[in-house]
Amino acid sequence: MNKRQRPLLGKKILLGISGGIAAYKCAELTRRLIEQGAEIRVVMTACAKEFITPLTMQTVSGHVISDSLFTPQAAASIEHIELVKWANLLLIAPATANIIAKLSNGIADDLLSTLCLATQGPIAISPAMNVQMYQAAATQNNLSIIAERDVFIWGPAEGMQACGDVGLGRMLEPDALVDLCINFFASDAKILSSVSITITAGPTQEALDPVRYISNHSSGKMGYAIAVCAQKMGANITLISGPVNLSPPKNVKLIKVLSAKEMHCASLASLKECDIFIACAAVADYKPARFASQKMKKQQGIDDLMIKLVKNPDIIASIASVEPPPFCVGFAAETQDVKEHALKKLKAKKLDLIAANNVSITDQGFNSDQNALTVYSKSRQFDIPFADKKEVAVQLLTIISKHFTAKE
Ligand code: PMT
Repeated sequence: MNKRQRPLLGKKILLGISGGIAAYKCAELTRRLIEQGAEIRVVMTACAKEFITPLTMQTVSGHVISDSLFTPQAAASIEHIELVKWANLLLIAPATANIIAKLSNGIADDLLSTLCLATQGPIAISPAMNVQMYQAAATQNNLSIIAERDVFIWGPAEGMQACGDVGLGRMLEPDALVDLCINFFASDAKILSSVSITITAGPTQEALDPVRYISNHSSGKMGYAIAVCAQKMGANITLISGPVNLSPPKNVKLIKVLSAKEMHCASLASLKECDIFIACAAVADYKPARFASQKMKKQQGIDDLMIKLVKNPDIIASIASVEPPPFCVGFAAETQDVKEHALKKLKAKKLDLIAANNVSITDQGFNSDQNALTVYSKSRQFDIPFADKKEVAVQLLTIISKHFTAKE
């Protein structure tokens, strides 16, 4: 089998197993990763060993598992440093609320948490816990903190849990995790080498007067994640961003704008060097017809105030109409009839692809760290499951790259 058939050939994955019932899936996960060419070493916490035996993991991985900082072998080789140097990816699956909290707070009180602190390489986690524990403010806060530090968060999935509750908190199935590992390494593969991409991100602000504006809840996280991942995949990025509270991504040309009009001008100007245009921004469809140069005053006796709005330019539609157009990818943020509305926009705006974003589902879309998309071309559909926005970005860019290359 060649590398194309075994996409993880030569990849070294350190599998950290923490103590959740989903640990029983790790034997299957290891087997599938090895089938795809990966080399696997396993680290188990004390609790993990309550759910699956070290002997099982040793047998499927072909290596003695590591579980302590204090064995003579560990001390002789400073095992935690050796292991993190060896690995191309540290994958923690299942990742319990406890190990997530340790990661977020930099606690290193066993081998696995010490490895997390010692590694300079990428970490991916697959959360698995009861739905209440997952939704707890502390867990959500910890997840946001580690996502900010570039930890990939894969899952969780929704469904029946071991305790009988139903909801978010199931570890992703081994097949899904293998696909995520393949995509993760594909993002290293520079599949967008030398491609110039313009990305719009964040909200627009449409001023009413010097102190007020119309806007929306877009945080820019999805667009910025696409910019970061596309840059890592080798693309030259122009990121046209509405007002957001995010750090500028490295090695990306960042153009800051406020209004849809400014975003439109910057987008047209970027066409000088643009092979792919990705419109992730939540652009205000309308703006106030008139900008009041002084702060509008509350008027005595007037309870209803009408503000006349006029249409903004449709940025992606105008980009898709230039000759020759770049490869155009739109988003469709919808709360109902998602597929129908997305397909209408794909056609009306003359796009090559559209990423439908169901923003009626809590925990995804606007201002969250995770998302899930369904990408439509004229004839096909691709589902990107609920995951950290960086992971969603990698999968989206992989789909875009294949279609862009096919069209060239
Ligand atoms: O920023 P985050 O908090 O991470 O949230 C991400 C997101 C939910 C904003 C993002 O995933 C998303 O769905 N972006 C599109 C939001 C949107 O405004 O969709 P729309 O259906 O209204 O617009 C359709 C497409 O036309 C979009 O590509 C939009 O960028 C583009 N558009 C819309 C209006 C306009 N005047 N010009 C445009 O280019």
